[in-house]
Amino acid sequence: MKKHVKNNIYWVGKVDWELQRFHGDEYSTNQGSSYNAYLIQEEKTVLIDTVWAPFAHEFVENLAKEIDLNKIDCIVVNHGEVDHSGALPALMERIPNTPIYCSANAIRSLKGQYHQDWNFNVMKTGDKLSLGNGKELIFVEMQMLHWPDSMAAFLTQDNVLFSNDAFGQHLASEKLFNDEIDQCDLFSEALKYYANILQPFSPFLRKKLNEILALNLPIEMIATSHGVIWRDNPYQIVEKYTQWANDYQENQITIIYDTMWNGTKTLAEKIAEGIQLADPEVLVRIHNLAKSDENDLISEVFKSKTIVIGSPTILNSILHSVAGFIHLMKQLKFKSKKAAAFGCYGWSGESVKVMNELLGNAGFEILGEGYRHQWNPDSEGQIAAVEFGKMIANS
Ligand code: FEO
Repeated sequence: MKKHVKNNIYWVGKVDWELQRFHGDEYSTNQGSSYNAYLIQEEKTVLIDTVWAPFAHEFVENLAKEIDLNKIDCIVVNHGEVDHSGALPALMERIPNTPIYCSANAIRSLKGQYHQDWNFNVMKTGDKLSLGNGKELIFVEMQMLHWPDSMAAFLTQDNVLFSNDAFGQHLASEKLFNDEIDQCDLFSEALKYYANILQPFSPFLRKKLNEILALNLPIEMIATSHGVIWRDNPYQIVEKYTQWANDYQENQITIIYDTMWNGTKTLAEKIAEGIQLADPEVLVRIHNLAKSDENDLISEVFKSKTIVIGSPTILNSILHSVAGFIHLMKQLKFKSKKAAAFGCYGWSGESVKVMNELLGNAGFEILGEGYRHQWNPDSEGQIAAVEFGKMIANS
């Protein structure tokens, strides 16, 4: 069912309430998501993006109920990833000659995925498409936000920016707009989306935000491709992105560990005690990696100024859960954050050294040599862990 967005703009996407994992199994979507597609019905009728492939048939059928598909003058593909282009093959079977407007890189990604020679038309930053009634779509290339093919389109007069993935949230909602849903949910999901997807591209984003602001577009709505549309004060999410793209951190220290027989867990709690004793103002959080959602943990890392990572020694190294999480943090290219390592051991005790090396390679500034304790921490070992926590807080 289409939903009214503004004037002659309609939402024709799909809300996916049951989605639990995204990008394969890489990203948890605990609140579902949506694939937002938009129909603009001016003198020309334009479809902006489609939906994920499993919903292709439903999408095309619903669209055909709203409009004679042959009346679609062109399709704007802002991004070739399958969650937005997945219904294109089914749609193009019905209207095979319809022009597709996209970036040069999107032709590569679409051809690479669907092996079709559709009627592609390359759009570059500043290119315009007249829709009649005095309205135009102005295109802005958004390379690396988050794919090399990403693009946004601005509709003049209605002043709506169709931003595709940028400014999105994985959040299912029957409501269309940001002012209609719980604000904690909204910003928590927007931050998780930024931390897990856009964080590595922050340098590109800083440049792009300046470029968009310099265009002086009178943006009244930001219609993203996931989650709700920013209608109420759309610049609030632009301001958030400006903060998030500049080595964001709060006054938070997060301890993330995995444990075998609870010795490393005991150390985690004692280190937290020491941090809080030395700095009553800082927010300290402890997460057992094996019992936590990794993508939610990335949100915590994103907000933290320091992270403290714990693993016992196993087979002269560390638990693979911890190794994998450090690898994930490395991929996300966090900047200006500090890290410290700790862990229990029984025999050889290499875990702290291994973690320090991995964390250094992941771009963290390492605090001290770390703290390791042989066997289960006794009272002396626990006191030493509290002192280690104090050192971290004071660093
Ligand atoms: Fe929502 Fe990059 O796809």
